[in-house]
Amino acid sequence: MIHIHGAAQIATLGGASTKPKTGKEMEELGLIEDGGIVIDDGIFVFVGSSGEANRYVKEHSGDKSVTVLSAAGKTVTPGLIDPHTHIVFAGSREFELNLRLQGAKYLDILQAGGGILYTTERTREATEEQLMAETVRRLDRFLSHGVTTIEAKSGYGLRLNDELKQLRVARRLDAAHPVELVSTFMGAHAVPAEYKGDADAFVRTVTEEMIPAVAREGLAEFCDVFCEEGVFTVEQSRDILEAGKRWGLKPKIHADELVSCGGAELAAQLGAVSADHLLHASKDGIRQMAEQGVIAVLLPGTAFFLMAPPADARAMITAGVPVALSTDRNPGSSPTESLPFIMNLACLTMRMTPAEVLTACTINAAHAIGRAASIGSIEVGKQADLVMFDAPNYLYLQYHYAVNLTDTVLKKGDVVIR
Ligand code: NIG
Ligand code: FE
Repeated sequence: MIHIHGAAQIATLGGASTKPKTGKEMEELGLIEDGGIVIDDGIFVFVGSSGEANRYVKEHSGDKSVTVLSAAGKTVTPGLIDPHTHIVFAGSREFELNLRLQGAKYLDILQAGGGILYTTERTREATEEQLMAETVRRLDRFLSHGVTTIEAKSGYGLRLNDELKQLRVARRLDAAHPVELVSTFMGAHAVPAEYKGDADAFVRTVTEEMIPAVAREGLAEFCDVFCEEGVFTVEQSRDILEAGKRWGLKPKIHADELVSCGGAELAAQLGAVSADHLLHASKDGIRQMAEQGVIAVLLPGTAFFLMAPPADARAMITAGVPVALSTDRNPGSSPTESLPFIMNLACLTMRMTPAEVLTACTINAAHAIGRAASIGSIEVGKQADLVMFDAPNYLYLQYHYAVNLTDTVLKKGDVVIR
C-alpha cells in the first residue's frame, strides 16, 4: 500500500471517463487542498483529504506494509499523457534548422528527399535493437517530465518490414519501460522514394498489404495519415483510413497542418477519434468536428518550432470541440519530450487557461488514445499513474515556465521517479 499525504493541491480530473471534457467543463479540475491518496496493488483505492486518507489507511492496511510519501508543498496531477508522438526512429536532423532559418520550407525539404524521407533512410538501416536503444532514451526523458503514457506512430519505415519493425519496437518497449505505449500505424506518413510520382500505387500498398499485416499481428490500435497538400490528398487519406477501419484500426488524422485542405471535415465524416495539428482548420471543419465529437489534438510546439502561428484553440473550445495537447515528438518538426513546455506554449501562445491545459494533457488525452477508462484522472478504481510537481498549485505549472518541475512520478503504483 502507498499513502501519499499532505499534498498542497490534488487536481483529480475526475468525472469524465466516458466522454472527453468540452467547453467550460475543461476548467473543472476536481481540486482537493491538503489532499491524501491511497494506492493498493497499483490502483487508486482512496482519494480525498489528508485526514480522511489517514483514517482509510488505519482501517484498511491490515498487515500490509505501507509506504508513506509526503507531498507537502507539491501539486499532484494524473500522470501526463502524450497522445501523438513519432518516437520510434533513428538519427536526428539538426542540420535542417539552419536551412529553415534561411527560409527553406518544411515541405520543400521533404520534396527534395530530406525531412521524413531522411529519417526513413536512417530508420530502415537501423536494427530493432538500435531503435530500441535510441527510443529508450527518449522515453526516459518523457518520464522525467511526468509523462507516463504516450501514443507512438510508425511512419519512418514506409515499407512493410520496416513499418512492422517500428511497431514491434513500440510493443517491446511498452512491456519493458515504465512509460506505457499505445501504437498507431502511420505507413502513409510520406510517399517513399521508390514510389515517387505514384502516390496512388503507394496508397494501394498501404491499404492492401501493410494495414492487413499490421492488423493480423495486432501491432496497432489506430491508423493515421498525413493529409496535406503535396503529401496525401483527402481522397487518398479517406481510402487509407477506411481500409484501416475495416481491419479494426480506429482513424486519426494529421489534418490542415500546413494549409487548409479539408482534413478537419474528413475527420468528422469518418468519425475519427482525433484530428491533429489543425493550424489551418476551416470554421466549418471545426463545427463538424464538434458535432461528431472528434478530439482536436493540438501541437503548439510544432507551430513554435516551425515558426508558424499556432492553431485557434479558443475557436475550437468555444465551438465545443474537446481539446487535447501533445508534443508531436519527432525529429523534424518537434524534437522535444517536454510536455510541460508544450503546456506552457499552449497557455501563452494559444491562450488556453492553465486549467484547460491540464485537462488537455490528462483526461482528454486519455480519450484521444482510447484509455479514459483506466487512466487520465485520479479516481478510485483507476490505474495509479500520478505526478507530484514542485509547485504549490496547478496555476504555478504554467507560471514558472520552461523548467522541469517534476518531483515524483508513479506508474501503475510503482515509484519510478523520486
Ligand atoms: O506531425 N506532419 C507530419 N509528421 C510529423 C513530422 C515528422 C518529421 O518531420 O519527421 C508532424 O509534424
Ligand atoms: Fe505528427
